[in-house]
Amino acid sequence: MAVQMKGKSLASLDHLTREELEQIIKTSELLKFQLLRGQEHPLLKGKTLAMIFEKPSTRTRVSFEVGMWQLGGYALYLSATDLQLGRGETIGDTARTLSRYVNGIMARVFSHQTILDLIQHSNVPVINGLSDFSHPCQGLADLFTVYEKKGRLDGLKLAYLGDGNNVAHSLIDGCSKVGMNIVLACPKGYEPDSKVVAQGKKEARKNGSEVRVTDDPKEAVKEADIIYTDVWASMGKEKEHAERVKILKPYQVNPKLVKGAKEDYIFMHCLPAHRGEEVTDEVADSKKSVIFDQAENRLHTQKALMALVM
Ligand code: CP
Ligand code: NVA
Repeated sequence: MAVQMKGKSLASLDHLTREELEQIIKTSELLKFQLLRGQEHPLLKGKTLAMIFEKPSTRTRVSFEVGMWQLGGYALYLSATDLQLGRGETIGDTARTLSRYVNGIMARVFSHQTILDLIQHSNVPVINGLSDFSHPCQGLADLFTVYEKKGRLDGLKLAYLGDGNNVAHSLIDGCSKVGMNIVLACPKGYEPDSKVVAQGKKEARKNGSEVRVTDDPKEAVKEADIIYTDVWASMGKEKEHAERVKILKPYQVNPKLVKGAKEDYIFMHCLPAHRGEEVTDEVADSKKSVIFDQAENRLHTQKALMALVM
């Protein structure tokens, strides 16, 4: 039976139940199949989505905008600096105002609190399009991509290498919900948030899987089904770039490191990549790499999410 998700906001993947996650994946599969067959699916005909951006984006912006169009709706791009927000109007007043015009809000912000404030003051669903704390839409596309490539999620091992950032948090949330094992190799001081790890461990125990953090990249990659990495300096951390490159260098995903993984491992990255830093061209462009499938799947999973909540 379908789970009712209408009106639901998405700040982080840990707010979804396993059933809701599975429903989004199944719906993504259906919408992707229909799109490839040229079958139209105007599930959000006449509906509108406001997209607030405090930071740049290629994938998130284009996939939401195209996705909304394919669903028969309309998406508005709103740069935070162009809104009255940039001149001091509060998040609360912005949310209340937008709720009078649109059927959903997607926001990419610096502070995660902005997402929580939007949710609190809005009468329409709010979707986190990346904050400093989490990137749930990326996590959805990642789980769907693994499911497509491996035919299942539970029991697999994902090794995440590098900075314990927003993407790492969403992978912990997502993997632990669906019974996937996740081992994160991060240097000291760059580990994921301890509360996210603790919550992930609790959830993983329920679903028969494991969440583990180590500082040893070789050990993390051992027998992995999936190797995942992300940039070392996320948006907003550019000033720390030089220092981070020095510290995170041993976590680079290169041909030598991937040798420890399973023969049929896949390589994943949310993109944009800083080639030559967290990943080398040999790995990013190898047959094992599914990075553009992941990027494509942002479209299908977000369409599924919007169709279900809006
Ligand atoms: N992965 C991702 O969110 O990409 P963009 O920053 O291009 O949106
Ligand atoms: N961790 C990266 C993800 C970009 C999609 C960042 O926040 O910049």
